[in-house]
Amino acid sequence: MRDPDPRVLMEWYDRHARRLPWRVPPEASKEGVRADPYRVWLSEVMLQQTTVAAAKGYYLAFTERWPDVDALAAAEDAEVMAAWAGLGYYARARNLLKCARAVSAAGGRFPGTEDALQALPGIGPYTAAAIAAIAFGRQATVLDGNVERVMARLFAVEAPLPGAKETLRAHAARLTPEARPGDHAQAVMDLGATICTPRSPACGICPWRPGCAGQRLGLAETLPRKAPKKAKPTRRGIAYFARRPDGSVLLEDRPPKGLLGGMRGLPSTEWVEGTPQPAPPCEAAWTSEPGAVRHTFTHFHLVLDLAHADVPAGTVPARGRFFSSEAAPAASLPTVMRKAYRLGMRCRDDAG
Ligand code: ADE
Repeated sequence: MRDPDPRVLMEWYDRHARRLPWRVPPEASKEGVRADPYRVWLSEVMLQQTTVAAAKGYYLAFTERWPDVDALAAAEDAEVMAAWAGLGYYARARNLLKCARAVSAAGGRFPGTEDALQALPGIGPYTAAAIAAIAFGRQATVLDGNVERVMARLFAVEAPLPGAKETLRAHAARLTPEARPGDHAQAVMDLGATICTPRSPACGICPWRPGCAGQRLGLAETLPRKAPKKAKPTRRGIAYFARRPDGSVLLEDRPPKGLLGGMRGLPSTEWVEGTPQPAPPCEAAWTSEPGAVRHTFTHFHLVLDLAHADVPAGTVPARGRFFSSEAAPAASLPTVMRKAYRLGMRCRDDAG
């Protein structure tokens, strides 16, 4: 069997490319129009652990508010963290700002090679390759989850991930053309997102079906294989919702490093696998809702008890500050804190 032909995929992309806000459409790209590196960088950082559907709105909001790298570099940290709230993996947002400031300080232009891109904060091999290919037309190999799946199926790679990654990368590199490498990368991603999907792939309409070993062997849908995942432990904690008579709520800025680093949230105990040590941020007649908030992070499940109370106007907390819902709306909090905040509001409204 011969290798699948990248030209056949490109013809398919020219007809079926998804219209995405960060993308130069194929008809313009064919004429040599390149995407703005700032926009490619921003979208690729957002898309790394987030679906296209979830990232789109954030991408549009960011580019409207900060249309270029100098504008983003000049933003306040807290503004950017609040705008990122809900996207998760908050280290990405902290690095985004560091990277914007580094690029801006060096004249406002992103470098065009994978090596120079990888030297910037938060840019790893995937993002560097994506920017180099899509914004600079370099023949870089872009390997994300979609591309891995497509390669595993095309070449019937039965070794499990993550061990098979370099094999899959070598296949992807061999197929990457000199012409339009950025469109090629995005074509493989689109194929993976719309046809070569994780479940029930639409092999009947796949442009690469003739060259697909996985399809020929009847294995396509079972690939890529994955090493079994470790079970996630459960951690527990207590989050404190204190509301003053003017409606303002006690919030605390988390330390810059670590989980949800630099994000605002309800004051909380440590999150531990045993029983958390209570750590109320102020004296109050707390009411507890055991196990009321649940959230799953990459490496653990979290179950939070919610302790809530109405507190007098003059309350001076041991930590955190009171914020009105205009100054710190629920939408500016990370998802787990948003859940706790909204529940706290409902509990206090019911109590009052
Ligand atoms: N996922 C990550 N990057 C993407 C891109 N440029 N187009 C579509 N999906 C993507």
